[in-house]
Amino acid sequence: MARLSLALVLLAACAAPEPRVSWSRDIGPLVQAKCAGCHVNGGIGPFPLTTFAEFMNVAETARLAIIQRRMPPWPASKSCAEYAPDGSLSDEQVSMIDRWLDDGALEGSAADFKALETPQNALSRVDLSVPMMKAFTPSRSPDEYRCFVLDWPQTETTYITGYALAPGNAAMIHHADIFFLNPSAAAKYRGLDPDGSGYTCYSLPVLEGGWIGTFVPGSRGTDFPDGSGLKVEPGSKIFIQTHYNTAYTGRQSDLSALNLRLEAKVRKPGVVLALADLKWMNGDMVIPAYAPDAVHRYEEDPTLYISAFNRAFVDGQPLKVWAGTLHMHQMGSKATFEIVRKDGSRDCITDLPRWDFHWQLPYSLAAPKTVSPGDRLAVECHWNNSQKNQPWLGASQRVSRELNWGAKTDDEMCVAGVYLTPQ
Ligand code: HEC
Repeated sequence: MARLSLALVLLAACAAPEPRVSWSRDIGPLVQAKCAGCHVNGGIGPFPLTTFAEFMNVAETARLAIIQRRMPPWPASKSCAEYAPDGSLSDEQVSMIDRWLDDGALEGSAADFKALETPQNALSRVDLSVPMMKAFTPSRSPDEYRCFVLDWPQTETTYITGYALAPGNAAMIHHADIFFLNPSAAAKYRGLDPDGSGYTCYSLPVLEGGWIGTFVPGSRGTDFPDGSGLKVEPGSKIFIQTHYNTAYTGRQSDLSALNLRLEAKVRKPGVVLALADLKWMNGDMVIPAYAPDAVHRYEEDPTLYISAFNRAFVDGQPLKVWAGTLHMHQMGSKATFEIVRKDGSRDCITDLPRWDFHWQLPYSLAAPKTVSPGDRLAVECHWNNSQKNQPWLGASQRVSRELNWGAKTDDEMCVAGVYLTPQ
């Protein structure tokens, strides 16, 4: 009897063998979903990762980039909040790829390939396309940050209810931050970019307009949540800061366009709030020379004054938070953006434990969070201004000096951006 049941157990084990992890069934679909948006011919990734052979060509560098969490680029901490879409790999996925390579990287049968269903935003409709005024060819390498001021053609108040950047040269665009500029700031920015060929800049017009969104390679844009939209007045401008990277493409030309979904009225207003301390802008964001961990933090209850940003909002009412992003410059080391509840408890929106100036991404919450009157939104930024963290200028390292708020490369900023609607 004992022998029989042992045989049965063995038989059962043979009958349902755990299929071995293969490229076709497991790894390929994952690489397609999480890498190939950028790593495709003509994409920003320096080599394609669309087939087994292409992946195996760089298998060991890819393994290292995955294990060290450099790729796919997704600096946000997973313990903070759940995002959709989420560009990162889970711990289980990372170890599956690692073990698959250890076990000899089985290719498997092409018939097993099934694309993953991952949440992906996309713009549903294009009502207006605003192109750059002229094509631009980067002159700095490998990185150039260029800001373009585009004219806003609408003559009536209009709501932007979705956006997508149509890259003119996808292989060269590392990312782009897209804003509208209020009419009061329009002339100043046109002065900076008189003929639409752009100007070198590192900062974002967080207080003179509204953040529309961020383009990263592979992104298909998005409709704004819950029937909401951003109100744009006639006489506004569009502002696009494009980070070009020409390391792998050489200097080519780009003529991108901003595609927009528009509405004359929306069901709910939306607003992008830039959270930063006004005192910082008056020289009060001192980052001492040589400080290894300088910190600035600011908290405020947005329900007290939200109507000042958009008169369709009513003060003293709860707000919904849909997405968050953080902006610093080059010496930042980490940053958090959270809700501090009336009872002192904290609810994380975005946490960037290792700030990466190269990858400033927006993070859309899988489920919106509520900010009630008495709660506060809080932004906290850290900088490493120690001597060993200073940038190299050719053969010599910059000497650490006191830093402060400002718009230039070697100034700093600390801003959280958040997309809000009424409850
Ligand atoms: C959002 C775009 C994007 C995604 C998604 C992405 N990459 Fe990359 N990858 C890049 C860019 C751009 C570079 C060039 C270096 C840089 O700018 O960081 C790069 C460089 C690399 C490199 C060489 C440099 C290094 O860090 O070792 C490897 C290997 C790599 N990627 C693997 C992957 C793998 C594997 C995935 C998916 C699991 C992936 N990448 C997803 C954009 C991306």
